[in-house]
Amino acid sequence: MDGNGRWAGARGLPRTAGHTEGEENLARLVRVAVTRDIGWLTVFGFSTENWVRPRAEVRHILGLHEKLFGRVAELNELDVRIQWIGRPFDSPEARTPRYVQRAIRKAVADTAHNGGMTLTVAFDYGGRAELMAAVRAARASGEPITEATIGRHLYLPDLPPVDVLVRTSGEHRVSNFLLWQSAGAKIHFCDTPWPDFGAADLDAALELLT
Ligand code: IPE
Ligand code: MG
Repeated sequence: MDGNGRWAGARGLPRTAGHTEGEENLARLVRVAVTRDIGWLTVFGFSTENWVRPRAEVRHILGLHEKLFGRVAELNELDVRIQWIGRPFDSPEARTPRYVQRAIRKAVADTAHNGGMTLTVAFDYGGRAELMAAVRAARASGEPITEATIGRHLYLPDLPPVDVLVRTSGEHRVSNFLLWQSAGAKIHFCDTPWPDFGAADLDAALELLT
């Protein structure tokens, strides 16, 4: 969900205002996605690299994730199941603070029964960290290191392969997002900064699948 800072800057607003609008936009876009029959929507909320940002900005983004995972009533109304992907809370490198952990656990449990779209939020997530953890876990279990065993030890083994990867805000590069899962994915590049990413942008991305 790239481009929050630039969206704010273009309006003379602080970066935090861009993140706030980005969170609101995710709530809006989830509503659109369910009308498009999307089964799985995964968004990059905060990466393992993002912790170096100024403390006030990080604190603001943490609060927005607490808010996002607090949208249980909305998710239930939409029949959306929310999941989280990131460094497991009990791993030594994990940095998700306890209050965000609590919000995540509660939202995951309180929407687990929903059978519509699965919304997966990547928070304290890095594709390389995930792959290292998967290889270590496969090795620790004594299994041979194969595509199958690595796949089984990913953070969310049931997450399907990515069909379409969307890059917002004019970024023409791969990030540290779902590296294993996005092999073979189509890529939709758009100039729209995340807070403005709407139904037309989503539909343009989905066009790649037809
Ligand atoms: C995305 O917006 C939000 C996070 C990465 C947490 P950015 O903060 O990266 O916005 P730009 O790239 O500076 O516009
Ligand atoms: Mg950015």
